[in-house]
Amino acid sequence: MSVEKCGVAIIGFGNIGSGAAELLKANKERITQSAGREVELKYILDVRFPEDSEFKPLFISDFNIIENDPDVNVVVETIGGTRFAYDFTKRALSAGKSVVTSNKELVAVYGHELLTLAKENNVNYLFEASVGGGIPILRPISQCLAANEITEIYGILNGTTNYILTKMSEGQSYEQALKTAQELGYAEPDPTADISGKDTCRKICILADLAFGRHIDPDEVSVTGIDGVKDAVTPDGKVKLIGRAKKLDDGRIMIRVAPEVIANDHMLSCVENANNGIVVKGNAVGEVLFYGQGAGKMPTASAVVADVIDCVKHTNARKWLYWSDGEGVQLVSENVS
Ligand code: HSE
Repeated sequence: MSVEKCGVAIIGFGNIGSGAAELLKANKERITQSAGREVELKYILDVRFPEDSEFKPLFISDFNIIENDPDVNVVVETIGGTRFAYDFTKRALSAGKSVVTSNKELVAVYGHELLTLAKENNVNYLFEASVGGGIPILRPISQCLAANEITEIYGILNGTTNYILTKMSEGQSYEQALKTAQELGYAEPDPTADISGKDTCRKICILADLAFGRHIDPDEVSVTGIDGVKDAVTPDGKVKLIGRAKKLDDGRIMIRVAPEVIANDHMLSCVENANNGIVVKGNAVGEVLFYGQGAGKMPTASAVVADVIDCVKHTNARKWLYWSDGEGVQLVSENVS
């Protein structure tokens, strides 16, 4: 069978970007079958590269090349942060290219603007990898649970802090556990975003927007990290960093990030190491738990490449992502049970 090619460019060749490149290569046949077209990795953009990389012939350092190449259909943004990622994403979407990202900071802050720009250009902006690493969560909320009124979402959304708390409960020091989490590629380049709870905050804001149809500014959310946690195990259960968003009867949204004691018989109690566990409560389905590897190179690349396949299959703007209109909502940060 001869199939038309679809060009992909990766911008940001760190942990996740290199994982996406490796996965596109390793599973090429399966990906081509699934996408219905050959997915060709054409360029990899970064400011520095490993000398011995198998992808050396694809390395470039000028975004104009990607922007002006009509054969690049999908751009994978794995730069992270908002500084360069924001500008390159806007330029790619404006040039009629779909963009796929794992960048939760960019989505939490600029998601509405970037989705609007994608729609205007009839292309996709997809970000399944921005929450829960390899766990499917954004599509299930938007599609499989679409018949429900979602009343609450809560869970363990950061692999690094869950890894640290797990190792502390096994007797390791905080410092040693953090060092290993960095070596295993779970932590952000600056791990203070993990430790302080900011990373969890961005993810719960993205989930709340999809579930409740309201934009929540991460800066408005009450956030407590794990720096003050001395004992990861208490007589009442295990300490876990929990992101929680709940829709109240009066329309306000309770949202917060804080360490909570999770009882030993609760389903999140056995979510250990870098795994994430996300509970979604719907008024028809009840409670559903999404569980799996929430951080790390290949699990996150799995979600990134699935979004690439979706873009290749559906070159026009997808309609499944019910993002808010950008309007804010009144928040309450105290815990409301
Ligand atoms: N640093 C993040 C975490 C990576 O530990 O969960 C995945 O978003």
